[in-house]
Parts: sequence; structure tokens; C-alpha cells
Amino acid sequence: MLLHPSFDVNDQGHLTIGGLDSAVLSDTYGTPAYYLDIDAVRAMCRMYKKNFETYFGGASTPIYAGKALCIKKLYSIIAEEGLMADCVSPGELHTAHAAGFPMEKVFFHGNNKTDADLTYALELGVGHIVVDGLDELHALNAIAGNLGKNATVLLRITPGIDPHTHQKIITGNVDSKFGMAIQTGQAMEFVKAALAAENIVLDGFHCHVGSQIFDIAPFREAAEIMLAFVARVRSEYGFMAKILNIGGGFGVRYTEEDPEIDYEANIRALGEEFDAICAELNLPKPAIMMEPGRSIVAAAGATVYTVGTVKTVTGFRSYVSVDGGMPDNPRYTLYGSRYTIVNADRADAPADFECTLAGRCCESGDLLAEGIRIARPERGTHLAVLVTGAYNHSMASNYNRIPRPPVIFIENGQSSVAVRRETYEDLLALED
Ligand code: LLP
Repeated sequence: MLLHPSFDVNDQGHLTIGGLDSAVLSDTYGTPAYYLDIDAVRAMCRMYKKNFETYFGGASTPIYAGKALCIKKLYSIIAEEGLMADCVSPGELHTAHAAGFPMEKVFFHGNNKTDADLTYALELGVGHIVVDGLDELHALNAIAGNLGKNATVLLRITPGIDPHTHQKIITGNVDSKFGMAIQTGQAMEFVKAALAAENIVLDGFHCHVGSQIFDIAPFREAAEIMLAFVARVRSEYGFMAKILNIGGGFGVRYTEEDPEIDYEANIRALGEEFDAICAELNLPKPAIMMEPGRSIVAAAGATVYTVGTVKTVTGFRSYVSVDGGMPDNPRYTLYGSRYTIVNADRADAPADFECTLAGRCCESGDLLAEGIRIARPERGTHLAVLVTGAYNHSMASNYNRIPRPPVIFIENGQSSVAVRRETYEDLLALED
């Protein structure tokens, strides 16, 4: 096993993904290509489902955050596994709907939903709209009234927590574009307005503290703050929340240096925390929900590239350039994210060649990694970046007019195309 159960090395020294030889896969599908081990995705779904039921209580269901990887075939799998889904844009709603996902199991998020978005969500019969602020609440109330419907909602609350993750992916602190803050008193005003709105059915509250979190302390803190808020709302307005959704954020191991995560132990510890806090506050426990995205798909994915130029700048460093880069994985450029990278054709050889991994775009910042060690590659060999199942395909672009790679699913030892490779014609498809 290489870092995660989806990756291994076979007798020929080739990297295997979901048990299949990456060299054979590359001959079949070309490079670059994203692969996703569906058995591993299903295992994570089942792990979350079982442990939420056991430790959070029967009504608690994991909600898959589609922003991590949003494609129809994945929504079908998420539906088969009995999870709910978090959609963050009308495009994600449309994808879930096109996949036949049960829309009553969808939570619709976003800090700036347009009137058209809200209308679309109501027309599709989305189960819960997570209302981000007062303007949106009033707009939704009016739109629901015009459609002759009620909108069932959660209110997005900012608990005021700094989870010590990357600044750009923190979302739960007070000074945020998301939600209404408890600390400023605006969250209570928000509840009052929701309870008074005639076409709004309030079901509970939502918060999200951040992403790629290894330590459960921020979730504990969120549980404490949010349950205290639920209790205050109950005593001031006589409203008891049915649902408390504390967002996504469980981390994933990208490199050997990242800590191992025992998800079950974390969920158990959080469940105990919820029970203890509710007992202390003398509060009936709402259905506890969480929205994992990254931790369901990241470790099941890998991207395989073909190496082009290998160049050593005398006295400086060696560059290995591949046939992809920031268009298919912008995370190093954006966040300095670290990955495990292997020479997929010689995955068992010593990793003794220090290099910078560069993409093919026309800008120096188009890098996938720096200062990594891999078995020395040469032009034409394959290189794999592991743990790319989340926030790679979903964040991909066509920068430099580079077509997006296909997404290949691997399940029960069989591979199949979930998303085909973009063609040059696709790049022109929207132009007159
Ligand atoms: N729920 C809400 C409201 C969120 O904002 C997010 C992520 C999630 C759930 C899922 O969190 P996860 O379990 O995946 O950590 N592009 C960044 C990640 C941004 C995450 C934004 N929100 C990256 O590539 O690391």
C-alpha cells in the first residue's frame, strides 16, 4: 500500500490504482487522466453512515459535499449509499437532479444565491435551503410565496472559530462573507426574522468552520457554541431546532508527514461531546449532521501524467514537466498544497531524484510540487499525483486552452469512463 489502500505497486513495479495497473490504464485512456477508486469511495460513505448512526443517533445522516467532486455518476453512487448531498450552486443542483438524486435529500448552500437560484431550488423540490443572511431570507420568503410553496430552511450561523487551517478555506470566523454571527447578536435577529416569515419553515441551524482539519478541537468548539445557541433560541423563542449541521472539514492525509486520521474515533468523540453538552444544557439532542466532501473522495483519486521535458538548470534545480498542471490541479498554485508523487512506471525504485514538478502552462507559477523526491523519470514515462479525488476535477479550468482530462472510475477491478476527455472541438463549442 502507498499512503492509502487504493494505491499499491505490482510485480512490474507499476503503480496500481484500485488494483489496476496504471501503465495499462494510461495506454487505454491516455494522459493526463483522473482516476477514482469507487470501492474506496463507497467504503468512506459506509464508514460515515454507520458511525453517524451509532454515535450521533439514528436521524443523523452524512451529507456529501459535492463541491469536492461533482459529477453525475458520483451522485448516483452517493444516492445508492444512502447519503444526502450538499449543493452549492444551481449547476451542482442541476447535476444532482440530472443524476436522479432525490432532491428532498439535498441541502442548498451558498453565500449569494440569486433569485433565479432560489426559484430553481424550490422548483426542483430541494429538501433544505441553507439561508445565508437576511436579504436572502426575505427574497426566499417572497419567492416561495409567489410559487405557493413553503421553503424549509436551515440558517447559516458563524460561530466564531479559527480552525488553524489555510486562511482561504476558513469559513467559521466572525469576519466572514458566510452566515450571521452569534457574537454580534445578528444570529438571534436572523432567527427572529425566520420565525416571523410566513413562507419559511425553520428546521435548524448550520455552520462550517473550515476544511482540511485534522484536530477535532474546532468541531468540539463548534458543537459547544452551536448547542448553546440552540438552547438560547429555545428559551427565548420557544423554538427547538430539529437539525444541527456542523458542516464538513475532516482532513485527509496527502503525504507521509500528515497525521493518520481515525475517522471513527473522531466521530465517536464528537458524538460523546454532543451527548454531554445536551445533557448539561438539558436540551433534547437535535439530529446532528455533517457534510464531508474531501474525506469521501480525495484519497480514492490519483492523476496520471506523461513526463515530457526533464531539465536540470546547472547550479539550481531539476524540472520535470508533465502534460497537465494548474489547469487540472490548481491547488499548489493556490494554496501551496503538498502531494505524494510517484514515478508510476518505477514505483518500487528508490526515490532519489530531487526535482520540481512543473505543468505545461505558459507561466512560471504553474507548478504541482517543489523539492520532491521521485525515482528519476524520463521523457515518455508516467508520473502519478496521489490523493487528487477532491478539489481537482471540480476546480479544473481550460487555462491556455488545455482540454480537461477524463474521469475514470474503477470498481470491482473494472474501469469505465465517468467523464470523457474534453476535445479541441469542446473548447470551441460555446463560440459563434
Ligand atoms: N460544507 C460547507 C458549507 C463547505 O463550505 C465545505 C467546504 C464543505 C462542507 C466540505 O468541506 P470538506 O469536507 O471537503 O473539507 N478548494 C479548497 C477547499 C474549499 C472548501 C470549501 N468548503 C481546497 O482545494 O482545499
